[in-house]
Amino acid sequence: MKNVLVIGSGAREHALAWKISQSKKLNQLYILPGNPGTALCGTNVDISANDFERIKQLIWEKAIDIVVVGPEEPLVNGIADNILHDKILQDVIVIGPIKAGAMLEGSKQFAKNFMRKYNIPTARYQNFESSQLYEAQQFLNTLSPPYVIKADGLAAGKGVVITNTKEDAQKTIQEFFDGKFGYASKTIVIEEFLQGIEVSYFILCHGKNYVLLPEAKDYKRVGDKDTGPNTGGMGTVSPAEGIATKEFTDKVIQQIIEPTLNGLEQENIPYCGFIFFGLMNVDGNPYVIEYNCRLGDPETESILPRIESDIIELFEKAWNKTLQKNDIQISSQKAATVILASKGYPELYEKGFDITFDGNILSHVFHAGTKIQDSKLITNGGRVLAVTSLGNTLEEAIALSYQSIDKIHFQNKYYRKDIGQDILKINSKHV
Ligand code: AMP
Ligand code: GLY
Repeated sequence: MKNVLVIGSGAREHALAWKISQSKKLNQLYILPGNPGTALCGTNVDISANDFERIKQLIWEKAIDIVVVGPEEPLVNGIADNILHDKILQDVIVIGPIKAGAMLEGSKQFAKNFMRKYNIPTARYQNFESSQLYEAQQFLNTLSPPYVIKADGLAAGKGVVITNTKEDAQKTIQEFFDGKFGYASKTIVIEEFLQGIEVSYFILCHGKNYVLLPEAKDYKRVGDKDTGPNTGGMGTVSPAEGIATKEFTDKVIQQIIEPTLNGLEQENIPYCGFIFFGLMNVDGNPYVIEYNCRLGDPETESILPRIESDIIELFEKAWNKTLQKNDIQISSQKAATVILASKGYPELYEKGFDITFDGNILSHVFHAGTKIQDSKLITNGGRVLAVTSLGNTLEEAIALSYQSIDKIHFQNKYYRKDIGQDILKINSKHV
């Protein structure tokens, strides 16, 4: 029986905690710092995800066997290295890469150079330092609009700007070099725009040993029909039927997943954890838009409920490098997740409103930005709740999520009404 610690505090971590709490191998589950939703699955511990010393002390005190790291920031800051290098914590399983592996997400420049070196399809690009304004502008002249400009480092999801005019592109480059995201934007990547449909693939791996998790489609823009600014994600569906065909998935495995694992081995980076491949399907061919060194949010909320296997067993097999491709059982049911946000997100929004539920809700309600105050549940973030439903068809899953949403109330509740509609349309054309 295992003691497990999940690090993070969003709906992704609630979904992870929920899935881990179903394992027949679980003894105690702790979530750090967690949220009111994770408190329903285990014990929350009020320590920051970036306070490595206190985290190590907790691992020792609670005799934690497995640590699962949800967000990218502690990984890029070296939490896995910190735990694994500690002599008394040597037997702890850490699901999350060491810093060198987390650079796949922590530095766009590193990721792009890695893809170039290992022949992994990605948009044409060049890297520039802040002293190379002139060279950056010259490179822009070789591209046609829209222009894609990316800050090298982590920028809380705001480090990618896509502009239609060269003037806006030049302005963005200048702002980045001037330190809009501090050190993270002193180096930039400029790349070609890829036209296609985005889809997210995930693996759990250790070295070249891996299992493919269900894929998902994420709805990033705040408004219906993909309008308005980018957000952390307003909803997801899994599977991405009609986009992630068998033929496409075979190409993803051969052209992207296996070369990535091979590249990590060549670079002597032992990677144990999740890899999230943000892909563009361009006329049936996959290109990597970005790597993430963790699971996605809200993708996790759609993919974990579709995994039938015991997740602690998967973690143990990953650690021991005994994962076999068919160790993972995936349900044929479809999942749809709709995010309930606070009106105004991803810009300014208010928080502190009471959240109430009426009737019998048949969906999973994963907490993102919520808080308990005076014994009441209140809104405490831009993304408040993630409502996930399963169904025999995607239509059923989507309908159930929207039915549940009608039974959840808080002031300024905002959500997209069209999650999954494009997938339904693609598939209706195929029949
Ligand atoms: P990222 O932060 O790298 O996920 O980028 C944010 C979003 O920008 C992605 O989800 C895509 O929708 C879009 N994007 C990034 N790079 C490209 C590209 N080369 N071509 C088209 N869209 C892109
Ligand atoms: N849903 C996209 C992300 O987690 O980065």
